[in-house]
Amino acid sequence: MCGIVGYVGPRDCTDVLVSALTKLEYRGYDSAGIAVFEGGKIEVAKTKGRLADLSAKMEREGKPQGHAGIGHTRWATHGEPSDVNSHPHSGRRVTIVHNGIIENYKQLKQFLIDNDRTEFLSDTDTEVVAQLLDFYYDGNPIRCIRRTLHELRGSFALGIVFADRPETVYAVRCESPLIVGQGQNEVFIASDVPAIIKYTKDYYLLEYGEIAILKNGSVQFCSLHGRVIEKELHTADWDEDSAEKGGYPHFMIKEIHEQPTAVKTTIMPRIEDGLPNLAECGITFGTLRRLKNIFIVACGTAMHAGMVGKYVIEKLARVPVTVDIASEFRYRDPMLSRDDLVIIISQSGETADSKAVLNLAKERGARTLAIVNVKGSSIAREADMVIYTHAGPEIAVASTKAYMVQLAVMYLFAFETAIAKGRIDETECRHLTAELVRMPKIIEQTINAVVDVCQYVSTKLITADSLLYIGRGLDYALSMEGSLKLKEISYIHSESYAAGELKHGTISLITEGMPVIAVATQNTLLEKTVSNIKEVKARGAMTIVICDENADIDKDAADYMIRIPQISEMLMPMVATVPMQLLAYYTSVNKGNDVDKPRNLAKSVTVE
Ligand code: M6R
Repeated sequence: MCGIVGYVGPRDCTDVLVSALTKLEYRGYDSAGIAVFEGGKIEVAKTKGRLADLSAKMEREGKPQGHAGIGHTRWATHGEPSDVNSHPHSGRRVTIVHNGIIENYKQLKQFLIDNDRTEFLSDTDTEVVAQLLDFYYDGNPIRCIRRTLHELRGSFALGIVFADRPETVYAVRCESPLIVGQGQNEVFIASDVPAIIKYTKDYYLLEYGEIAILKNGSVQFCSLHGRVIEKELHTADWDEDSAEKGGYPHFMIKEIHEQPTAVKTTIMPRIEDGLPNLAECGITFGTLRRLKNIFIVACGTAMHAGMVGKYVIEKLARVPVTVDIASEFRYRDPMLSRDDLVIIISQSGETADSKAVLNLAKERGARTLAIVNVKGSSIAREADMVIYTHAGPEIAVASTKAYMVQLAVMYLFAFETAIAKGRIDETECRHLTAELVRMPKIIEQTINAVVDVCQYVSTKLITADSLLYIGRGLDYALSMEGSLKLKEISYIHSESYAAGELKHGTISLITEGMPVIAVATQNTLLEKTVSNIKEVKARGAMTIVICDENADIDKDAADYMIRIPQISEMLMPMVATVPMQLLAYYTSVNKGNDVDKPRNLAKSVTVE
């Protein structure tokens, strides 16, 4: 979604803002802009389109010169992407950038109109906030921010400059994430750490209702009531290279290759003497033993990791698991009790619907566990327990390594729950854990083994209008993710179907040459899945089968076969994910799409 940046320091502010915004491009955007203090006045440059369009515009019309300012990439919510709807937005004395949504902006606009503020240029909710700040501004920025925030409903973060407070940037956070970077005699604000990592690894996390005042290369924090706050300085444990392509053509393929390391870094600190140990994450045997029901709630890819988790937890630990989409769960008045555990899975830790579910679960007395990649994110901080995945920054919109480590954590959690519940003994748990420890190596072997065939098979997909992903059991859970990955970056319509369900309607869609990708890694279900593959083949489908190297499948059932290493059935999802990711990646590349920033999508969905 939108990205906010800000800078106060000795460097060329416009250059810093544009460079920082480049690092937030992954969040998705359709316009960009900056506001910089130049000679005591606020100069604004903004445009519809990409940052390159903004730079070209500044080249033509003049680049604001100064040392303090704010910047923004906009992902349109209120009003189409256009120059005028781009941020920053201004009142007479106030200019702002905004991430999030103001739910009551229509009422506030009416209030302003009723009070003779009629000069609205854009369709945005943001301009209403700029005008409202201006309306309340009496020379005291903190009082003005407080009064304005009191009126706003929604979740948002703001970067603010006041015309009569030159060289000073104010920032405030209400739900939407915002950090403050501290360098040598320079300070930054940003929606995410990658924006500032080139300049500093040290940052503060702004909390709900806190205001940051950036001036003279340093920052002061205060509450909405002006009370000074001391904050803890965090240091990022990764560097600029992690947020760069490092020689790969796209972040997505780089992140696919980073999966072995990501899995290793995520699981190894949680394994002790050959057994999983999640105590450091606040998860005790006592908690696990008492569990009656587990709810896994998430969005998109993270929800698909939960689907795999359901199969594994239920099989090993015999605890009923319900998996739900966060935007549905939060509105269906779920039945939760103290002995239930709600697991929220989220790469960003900022997804609005997932965050709302976390709050709901807490309100209803359930225990909450967050499985999150971004340190210090809202979901991680607010959950009772947290297991951080250590995938490092994931920049491509299409999630790959974050999904892989979410799977790894699902396994660790299932093993630990199963042993706590007495469903498996130590020997079996050791055996399962040892197999998980082998996964980084096996994932690496798989990438090398299937990259060429995936590249080739993807050339057969690019002309398709529509395709199906099918599977049974864990393969079905996995095919949901394969299908999402493919559609989000290749723009080919794709559905995932439980293979046994095809005959109940969907098989009528099969026409000559329609691709059907069958995931067939579950040997206990193999014969049945093969029958389903033959059924679609007999009706003209072009079949692509992902199966293990030893699977006994007739050659004539598959037009293309992608063979992957064989490991125990239960862990096959971590291997079979790889060809699905590569098929999606190469199909998108072959179609000439913007692989890392697919149209209409944002990396972190911070609005409902
Ligand atoms: O940050 P989160 O894991 O909460 O994000 C959830 C989804 O928005 C995300 O997984 C999305 O589906 C990805 N684009 C999938 O590649």
